[in-house]
Amino acid sequence: MPSDLILITGSAGRVGQAVVKELLVRGERVRGFDRLATPGLADSHIGNLTDAAAVRRAAEGADVVIHLAATPDDADFMSEILPNNLIGLHHVLEATRLAGARRLVLASTGQVNWWQRERTRHAIRPDELPSPRYWYAAAKVFAEAIGQSYSETHGLSVIAARLGWCPRPGQEKEIAALEWARDLYLSPGDAGRFFYAAARAPLALRFTVVYATSRHIHLPRFDLGPTKALLGWEPQEQWPDGLPPEVLA
Ligand SMILES: NC(=O)c1ccc[n+]([C@@H]2O[C@H](COP(=O)([O-])OP(=O)(O)OC[C@H]3O[C@@H](n4cnc5c(N)ncnc54)[C@H](O)[C@@H]3O)[C@@H](O)[C@H]2O)c1
Repeated sequence: MPSDLILITGSAGRVGQAVVKELLVRGERVRGFDRLATPGLADSHIGNLTDAAAVRRAAEGADVVIHLAATPDDADFMSEILPNNLIGLHHVLEATRLAGARRLVLASTGQVNWWQRERTRHAIRPDELPSPRYWYAAAKVFAEAIGQSYSETHGLSVIAARLGWCPRPGQEKEIAALEWARDLYLSPGDAGRFFYAAARAPLALRFTVVYATSRHIHLPRFDLGPTKALLGWEPQEQWPDGLPPEVLA
């Protein structure tokens, strides 16, 4: 019988803590992996993504892997994006395959459609050609592509999640100042519920790309229709729901 264990890499981060919280509330068996300690999670491995053996140990017994750990925005390619977002990605894909897990959820980003989003006003669909912002987003395009390869080659169900903006501490005022960013806000609560839906969506889903944002205020920048149709998930919140008021004061 397959195990029910869900491994979350990046479990100590902004999105990771929201996902851990939701999955524990839902009664799921959760293991974390991060280079930092994960608050409130007993089964938590501390290690680096660049350490293949540590990633392998964390994935042992997992049926679902939610891969969030990464440098979460543009940064120096050689010292940040290459080790954390590409070499780490390799180790997570291999560990997932070797563990015999059936589902991998990859955190991608709305930045893969950055230039379309800047230049058009329609809700961008997941099947449109990408236009990555820069190295970080281009590495996420690569992650989606190798995710598809693993799905086809190894029969793994892979969901690539193009996330909106779930602000890390100090980013809240940036979002408040930008109309498009408020439309792309992803509340911690919606993020948690999204990853629960992605983890537990029917395994018959093969390679799938979907967007995840909270409800827009001005314009629907990304098409959330496939997310609802395939994962049964819809956002419940809108900017600035879920943020403590003092961060906007
Ligand atoms: N927050 C957003 O708005 C947003 C938007 C789009 C995509 N994403 C993606 O979602 C994921 C999570 O982002 P976040 O905002 O929670 O970032 P975050 O920085 O808060 O969390 C990332 C976590 O990964 C861990 N990590 C990074 N490199 C590691 C390594 N080499 N080994 C072990 N652990 C490592 C960090 O310690 C951190 O706890 C990332 O893949 C990011 O690209 C986030």
